[in-house]
Amino acid sequence: MNALHVDNLHVEADGKEIIHGLSLTVCPGEIHGIMGPNGSGKSTLVNALLGHPSFVITKGSVVVDGVDVTRMSPEKRARHGLFLSLQHVPEIPGVTVANFLRAALAAQTGKEIRPIEFYKALEEKMKIFSIDPSFASRYLNVGFSGGEKKKIEILQMSLLLPRYAILDEIDSGLDVDALKVVSRGINQFHTKKNAVLLITHYNRILEYVTPDKIHVMSHGIIAETGDKTLAEHIEEKGYTAYV
Ligand SMILES: Nc1ncnc2c1ncn2[C@@H]1O[C@H](COP(=O)(O)OP(=O)(O)OP(=O)(O)O)[C@@H](O)[C@H]1O
Ligand SMILES: [Mg+2]
Repeated sequence: MNALHVDNLHVEADGKEIIHGLSLTVCPGEIHGIMGPNGSGKSTLVNALLGHPSFVITKGSVVVDGVDVTRMSPEKRARHGLFLSLQHVPEIPGVTVANFLRAALAAQTGKEIRPIEFYKALEEKMKIFSIDPSFASRYLNVGFSGGEKKKIEILQMSLLLPRYAILDEIDSGLDVDALKVVSRGINQFHTKKNAVLLITHYNRILEYVTPDKIHVMSHGIIAETGDKTLAEHIEEKGYTAYV
């Protein structure tokens, strides 16, 4: 069956186990939300799925559409359909937004895309996301505001069209208008053939992007899974029941 299967995942950073046996299945056509208090392990999960070298998977597996990617490099994972947007995206001086996106596309598809075609697609997407065209020639994330970085992430997702998009706090620090632009980008991207895993602290983005399931992480495991009413419940009561 096509799905992103995370099975009994254990993850260590600096020799300390942070994720203690986490299982999760996300199927194409679905949107899942992951919530949880600060320090519960959400970003650690994302980094482990990304294949970040500082986050070691000591046990368990990550399987994408039947392919075990647990030991694969981040590039290979991307080829198998994973896309991860980090809570804190790096700045890359010397590499323009346009060149970065073109290289990411080439890495994912394994073939070069003609510059003319690429710039046309890029221009269209930038318009959709209300990003000033001058950003194409700026160095990636250098001097970008928090909201601008997040919009570039969504732009990247909408160009790469991964099958599984995992977004870590894509809504944090966004003003109302940017939140709407980002939400619209997610909704336009989402089809029956792909899935979105949205990590968030707030119910706010979930008013625009409707999740099929909500998972609450606590102390490195999924403590509870429910429907979107669980997010409303958390908004009201906080995480005290899980801490
Ligand atoms: N490289 C590391 N070395 C040691 N501990 C780490 C490392 N990375 C994360 N941790 C610890 O793991 C725990 C989980 O961190 P993580 O960033 O995954 O939390 P989070 O749920 O994303 O929190 P937030 O909501 O604040 O973003 C924290 O206690 C953190 O200090
Ligand atoms: Mg985090």
